[in-house]
Amino acid sequence: MNEHKAQLDLGDEPVELDVLEPTLGLPGIDTRTLRSTAHHVTFDPGFGNTAAARSTITYVDGAKSILLYRGYRIEDLARDCTFLEVAYLLLYGRLPNEAELSAWTADITNHALLNEEMRSFFDAFPRRAHPMAVLSSATNAISTFYDVYRRPTRPSEIDAGARTLIAKLPTVAAWAYKKSIGEPYVYPDNQYSYVENFLRMMFATPLEEFRADPAVVKALNVLLILHADHEMNCSTSTVRGVGSSRANMFTSVAAGMGALWGPLHGGANQSVIEMLQTIHDDPSATIQSTVDRAKDPNDDFRLMGFGHRVYTNLDPRAKVIREFASDVFAAMNTTDPLLEIAQELEQAARADDYFIERNLYPNIDFYSGIIFRALGFPTRMFTVLFAIGRLPGWIAHWMEMNTDPETRIMRPRQIYVGEAERPLPRIEDR
Ligand code: SDX
Repeated sequence: MNEHKAQLDLGDEPVELDVLEPTLGLPGIDTRTLRSTAHHVTFDPGFGNTAAARSTITYVDGAKSILLYRGYRIEDLARDCTFLEVAYLLLYGRLPNEAELSAWTADITNHALLNEEMRSFFDAFPRRAHPMAVLSSATNAISTFYDVYRRPTRPSEIDAGARTLIAKLPTVAAWAYKKSIGEPYVYPDNQYSYVENFLRMMFATPLEEFRADPAVVKALNVLLILHADHEMNCSTSTVRGVGSSRANMFTSVAAGMGALWGPLHGGANQSVIEMLQTIHDDPSATIQSTVDRAKDPNDDFRLMGFGHRVYTNLDPRAKVIREFASDVFAAMNTTDPLLEIAQELEQAARADDYFIERNLYPNIDFYSGIIFRALGFPTRMFTVLFAIGRLPGWIAHWMEMNTDPETRIMRPRQIYVGEAERPLPRIEDR
């Protein structure tokens, strides 16, 4: 295969295909002409070997545990930036200067309020409703208050849609939580930062003044940054896929929330805690029995928070979370027996050939739930926190997809293995 061409030998005339060169990572064989020239399709369930687009947003090197947002290392961004700063970077491709960050922050702050008619929206849900169901429904509901988002085309409308979603999602999340515990809604207050406002709306009550612990604010900023984007993951691919039909940003993001909710994706952070709690509470569920179950081909149990489609080494986000976990517990003056269980489980799995041979390491979800718990969030809110973090990434990909001249409506092909054509029998002959 020379630098820019690949040859495919199917027995007849060899087929030449272009090779697309990357800035970083693997080159791509351009198969857009494969059906017309070789009369074949590719077969790649889950698209583990298929690039859906050329993107400039995020780069992941799974073998070297590298994650870059617009070329910046995730470790540096988590240490030195705020979540809104990183959201701006993902959306617009560069870090804001001080004036831009101040204007962006003020813009987001001033749009955190929901239309008052949205209050009745929450009344329609039972208290036991999972907050991810409320979040994805509310995301579509918000757009109905603003005609401009029905089919945004002008950059100013797209920017306004991005700002509205980023500003209002924490309010929706907090109100979904307050509804579930029967407490009054807390309105956003412009005097607080983005993360402080969210913590207030989640945990303040009319009974006393609420001030967020600076250590909690810092930790949640880091966690939201770590969740902000991850190239073509399942939920982002869903957002891009729905958006490829020219559906609006809000409904594309709402679809992505549905994909994120699955336990194999963002829902894993909730499943990890449930797995660790079972080990803690159930004497028959030990570290070793849990590892053995995960290895058993006849048991569909998976070691939640372990393994990854791209990482064949430790997820750099899990490394950041594991390293600052002890700081969070010290700052919160608390401990959690589940942290010790998680560390023992990681140690047992990483010593086992099954996990070593398959390059299965902890991913972002393995430790994130333990920190979310330490910050005071209930388990059912963990995937919602993932969604708030991932929102700028989803929007950045929707924007990139919408302006990419190579974008086509997502419509994969198949290999048909069903019945060949056959005559229709009369009902008396069936
Ligand atoms: C996220 O894509 C992203 O970027 C996602 C994400 C993001 O930021 O958007 O990083 C966030 O979703 C992280 C992943 C959270 N999910 C989990 O923790 C659930 C547990 N993990 C797995 O279900 C699995 O590892 C996936 C879903 C994450 C990846 O699945 P793949 O790439 O399809 O891998 P696979 O199922 O083909 O597994 C390969 C082998 C299989 O064994 P064999 O058939 O070769 O014998 O590894 C085994 C699997 O059985 N395996 C596991 C395992 N993960 C893979 N066995 C036990 N426990 C596990 N967790």
